[in-house]
Amino acid sequence: MGRKKVSIIGAGNVGATAAYYVAEKVIADIVMVDVAEGATRAKALDFLHAGPVEGYDVSIVGSSDLAAIAESDVVVVTAGLPRTPGMDRMDLLKVNSDIVKAVSRGIAEHARNAVVIVVTNPLDILCHVVLRTTGFDLRRVVGMAGILDATRLRYFVADTVGCSVADVDAVVMGGHGDQMVPLPRFTTVAGIPIPKLMDAATIAKLVDRTRKGGAEIVSYLKTGSAYYAPAAAIAEMVEAVVTDRKNVAPCAVFLRGEYGIEDLFIGVPVVLGRNGVERIVELDLSQEEQRQLSESAEAVREGVAELDTFFTVTK
Ligand code: NAI
Ligand code: 2OP
Repeated sequence: MGRKKVSIIGAGNVGATAAYYVAEKVIADIVMVDVAEGATRAKALDFLHAGPVEGYDVSIVGSSDLAAIAESDVVVVTAGLPRTPGMDRMDLLKVNSDIVKAVSRGIAEHARNAVVIVVTNPLDILCHVVLRTTGFDLRRVVGMAGILDATRLRYFVADTVGCSVADVDAVVMGGHGDQMVPLPRFTTVAGIPIPKLMDAATIAKLVDRTRKGGAEIVSYLKTGSAYYAPAAAIAEMVEAVVTDRKNVAPCAVFLRGEYGIEDLFIGVPVVLGRNGVERIVELDLSQEEQRQLSESAEAVREGVAELDTFFTVTK
């Protein structure tokens, strides 16, 4: 059996960086597809040139043709515009839903058995576009956001405590927006929940900085948004699926009653493996945590209602 195949649609900052991280793991051959054909071919060749020094020998192809994703095991969707200063994730909805719809048709045509990892913003809403357009099984469409939001919180906690990031775990649930739900009770340093290690005011600051983590980077970059941490989060999800590792991590998935939420993509902890979302993990939330999650879900639902005003599925 040959290597697994991972296709990344949209080879801009996030997509190309994710391709590089996946190449370094030496777990799959990689195809990058982007409307910017020359730049995508150039990036693929440049990555191949780095292989002998870096020690990876996977195949990496750059193309503008969606047919190049044929027979992929995993397809990552990063095609679309990033946020710029002052721009809300919702501002991206119209333009990016058109792009993601076109891309989803291509996935349905060429990579019918793939697990699709959605990245383009507004993330939770665009997961609905991918699910509706591809018609794939619910568990094969999964959004990347929770691992990114959690890795930001993990870093902030480690920096505050003065310990290795390797000792910190975190859970961030909810939509990938200002109402995401970082969970201090489930955020630990060597197994110790952070409410036992720091005062409430400090925790509130870390939670707030996590919620604004993407915007903080946009405010410095000015012409785009974060890509190293997002790409690292994508590569972790790709690895979980390609190697069937059964990682437990927060991802955007379609809920059908779990956490009291019906028919909506939102971030919750899941088990990720070969089949995509293999299980949804239901944490025992406090009343306040559940209230925050439900509020975050309502914000996503409003976005989906906005999507419904202009979005129709035409095959
Ligand atoms: P970028 O502008 O660097 O790259 C986007 C790429 O998509 C460009 O190369 C563009 O040519 C390509 N593209 C546009 N239309 C296309 C189509 N129809 N087919 C193929 N490729 C197409 O943007 P960046 O920074 O890579 O961000 C990409 C998306 O990911 C944005 O929507 C951004 O907001 C989102 N994002 C989401 C995160 C999350 O946590 N879910 C984290 C970081 C970014
Ligand atoms: C982020 O959180 C832009 O959603 C992206 O960095």
